[in-house]
Amino acid sequence: MAASLFSPTFSPTSSASIPKASVAESAHELKHSWWSISSATQRTCPILALAREHNLIVIEDASQAPGAIYQGRKVGGLGDMTVFSLNYHKHIHTGEGGIVTTDNEDYAEHLRLIRNHGESVVGGKGVDDIVNAFGLNLRMSELAAALSVTQLAKLPPLLERRIANVEYLSSRIAQLPGITPPVVRPGCKHVYYDQILLFDSTVVGTTRERFVDAVSAELPTSEDRDWPLICARYVDPLYLLPMFQKQIAIGASGWPFSAAAAKPDYKRGLCPVTERLQEHHLIFTEFMRPPCTISPSRVSPTT
Ligand SMILES: Cc1ncc(COP(=O)(O)O)c(C=O)c1O
Repeated sequence: MAASLFSPTFSPTSSASIPKASVAESAHELKHSWWSISSATQRTCPILALAREHNLIVIEDASQAPGAIYQGRKVGGLGDMTVFSLNYHKHIHTGEGGIVTTDNEDYAEHLRLIRNHGESVVGGKGVDDIVNAFGLNLRMSELAAALSVTQLAKLPPLLERRIANVEYLSSRIAQLPGITPPVVRPGCKHVYYDQILLFDSTVVGTTRERFVDAVSAELPTSEDRDWPLICARYVDPLYLLPMFQKQIAIGASGWPFSAAAAKPDYKRGLCPVTERLQEHHLIFTEFMRPPCTISPSRVSPTT
């Protein structure tokens, strides 16, 4: 994990440690986009290279990164398929629902089938391979789909405003000793689902929690929000959630954990950098979300 980028690091992995799977999923979550340990000039994405070597399909989760660019290429065009959530908290939204992109005709056909009972309702498409095409009835409603067309058109200006807000805030936050704003590598574009700051209590001279409480006290209350504008943590690492710690997910027998050949070990310390960031350094902020602007009237209410 590269702490300054909130991104997983990549080190060449021996074949023995690649799980026997056919799909690798990677999320562009919160952080600088994908696999940032590869140098900014390195054109080959290490995860894609590894996936190709092991015949894995790569599914990108770009729900928090529509419009982001990794080494000159838009996320959503790197893996074999990409999912974009359009739930209410995303850069653009339709209430619920989402989009899957792929440039593979077979995957596209299977996705259409899965979305709709697993059956081709129009017929005559010449699809004979429908192996495992269980339909999950994940259809987006026509109304939501219509909203998404308009929302997609709004994405570029919304991103511009979000990035301008982050740049404005970062330029000022960078002047505060002990608080580090997000880093963006050359050739990459960060679209800031949130603006994450790194806090160093030894430099600031107070705890992260005290600092966040003091800033919060200056803000409007968050009664109409489900998440505060600033808080001292993000959601806990997945493996520390009770479901993984207790290893009970579906039914009392512990399935699917009980079905694993080797009992997985989700002990604390598994991802030390992630845990250190969560416990001590990470500050999560949402000041930069549109409709917030950097217009002078908002910067200084007295002018
Ligand atoms: C990275 C990421 N993937 C997936 C989801 C879930 O999307 P949905 O609620 O549309 O299933 C979220 C958050 O909601 C997310 O942040």
